[in-house]
Amino acid sequence: MSKTPEYKRILLKMSGEVLMGDQEFGLDPATVNRVADDIKESVDQGVEICVVVGAGNIFRGVSGAAQGMDRTTADYMGMLGIVINALALQNALENLDIQTRVMSAIPMSAICEPYIRRKAMRHMGKGRVVIFAAGTGNPYFTTDTAAALRASEMNCDALLKGTKVDGIYSADPQTDKSASRFDSLSYMDVLTKDLKVMDATAVSLARENNIPIVVFNIREKGNLAKVLNNNGVCTTVKN
Ligand code: GTP
Repeated sequence: MSKTPEYKRILLKMSGEVLMGDQEFGLDPATVNRVADDIKESVDQGVEICVVVGAGNIFRGVSGAAQGMDRTTADYMGMLGIVINALALQNALENLDIQTRVMSAIPMSAICEPYIRRKAMRHMGKGRVVIFAAGTGNPYFTTDTAAALRASEMNCDALLKGTKVDGIYSADPQTDKSASRFDSLSYMDVLTKDLKVMDATAVSLARENNIPIVVFNIREKGNLAKVLNNNGVCTTVKN
């Protein structure tokens, strides 16, 4: 029998790479649908969910800058990539009859709603899944920072970071066999040990607003609900 989820309202952050499945690039429809299924499972348990996605499956601002492109232009291109991912996820969720709203930090009213905090709160209160697109709307900020910002603005009880590993390790588990997974860490541990789970701006913002960061493997089907029901494998960063 499933337990009552530990958190009432969460922000789910996932990288764009998650949505490309086993492909090298772009969106894998089967993976997008699978992620939507996972979100539905938790929505059906009464969890209020908002989502921030990245765009690494479409365009990476940082690597564009590394190749000589102006950093701000590259970052804006990344933000447009996020909008593509957000619309794909909205479509998949709506196919499952989940009410969903996409709100963009950069207004593009023909495509989705502009981000208005009070409107977003109203959507969430009605049980709609709100997908925040275009990051913070500013260059030089990561989608992790956008996630910590929106989680704070939406008064979320936790920020769940879905990645390809099942938590935070003492070293890279793919290259170092002695690496061990932490069950929990403090924000200061993450910052001072430079554990690279999220950038320092995002971790600091979560810390200031006392929002736990839960790192888990989103590539495994059903894991989101397991983690929310406190029977999944993850690392929790909190005070
Ligand atoms: P409430 O009435 O507050 O419950 O919210 P609602 O989102 O159902 O109502 P609203 O009339 O604001 O929106 C109806 C539909 O229009 C929803 O699918 C919205 O996502 C969409 N919508 C609202 N504002 C915009 C906008 O600025 N641009 C776009 N593209 N769609 C919008």
